[in-house]
Amino acid sequence: MALETQLLSVAADRPDPRLIEQAAAIIRAGGLVAFPTETVYGLGANAFDSGAIGRIFSAKGRPSSDPLIVHIASVDQLELIVLDPPEIARRLAGQFWPGPLTLVLRRHPQIAPNVSAGLDTVAVRIPDHPVALALLRAAGVPIAAPSANRFTRPSPTAAQHVLDDLRGKIDAVLDGGPTAIGLESTVLNLLGAAPAVLRPGGVPIEALRPLLPGLLFSPAYIDGGAAETAASSPGQLLRHYSPDAEVLLFTGQLDRVLARMRTVAGDLARQGRRVGILAPDQEQSLFEGTGALVASLGSGAEMAQVGARLFAGMRELEEQGVSVILVRAFERAGLGLAIWDRLIRATEGRVVSVDSASDDPA
Ligand code: TXA
Ligand code: MG
Repeated sequence: MALETQLLSVAADRPDPRLIEQAAAIIRAGGLVAFPTETVYGLGANAFDSGAIGRIFSAKGRPSSDPLIVHIASVDQLELIVLDPPEIARRLAGQFWPGPLTLVLRRHPQIAPNVSAGLDTVAVRIPDHPVALALLRAAGVPIAAPSANRFTRPSPTAAQHVLDDLRGKIDAVLDGGPTAIGLESTVLNLLGAAPAVLRPGGVPIEALRPLLPGLLFSPAYIDGGAAETAASSPGQLLRHYSPDAEVLLFTGQLDRVLARMRTVAGDLARQGRRVGILAPDQEQSLFEGTGALVASLGSGAEMAQVGARLFAGMRELEEQGVSVILVRAFERAGLGLAIWDRLIRATEGRVVSVDSASDDPA
């Protein structure tokens, strides 16, 4: 049966306490509330209530083998979530929380087991958003929240995206406007022989290295390898951030890449395909006359703008009915690594490498 999903609109910086209390009461009663964080919108439920957590998996259509992130309001709550956090966890928390860094630690037994998909570990972070923090304080319980999208859809960076995916399946959405970072948190496992990044995200790997000299990051797909290997860790399945349209990612020297994208866009349009292009503002005029629809990635010089626009741009193009999206690769440093990660996953292996002169269109 469909639920009536309430839309609760609040100011991002000073949310109305009555609306926050309304949302908190839903969480305490075992319901589902989507809320903004600095990264993307999360779909929250009481982390101590396995029934409520089960509803998250059904609403999203998410496999129960993929564990959730638990959100807390302050570092004191860490001991409710994890058993004996190592000293390095406290140092990282001191430097990066509230913020887009998620730590994988040993699970406290009072956390609902389905939060962790049955593992003895748990992922935890303090989000850096006044609405998320107000909700956490008012609810008085840790809130488990995956991104508030249907499984395999791009993460939501606005309340409307949440409604598009989950209206009728969740109790409420706190609308605090668009999210600032637009990419999910960096997930860091502190339980292995060496610390390892499981998902690059809002905190760049370069920012972690000074505290974690032996930091590992080596997913099979990251070097452009298209093959999906057996997932070594939950959530590392290649197909994860896919819009319904096919995504083609172009890599290589910029001038050649842009020329090739223009040719491919024109060819596909002539074949009757509805073509979308994701491009920084300064490159958009290159695609005039190809018949393609273009969505903005902001200024290509600013990785923060590209990151903030990436998922929203995919959704915009899809709404306009495109069946294929062309996008170029960006530099893989800083936030660019998370952008590369999301793009390579969205392509499901369709990488067009434009690397020799013979690739140039005549
Ligand atoms: O920015 C974010 O992280 C957002 C906001 C809402 O906080 N949340 C988010 O959650 O992106 P989700 O569920 O879409 O992604 C969580 C990732 C998944 O890749 C999952 O496999 C991984 O974290 N993860 C969660 N618990 C884990 C655990 N115990 N061990 C290893 N990986 C874990
Ligand atoms: Mg997600």
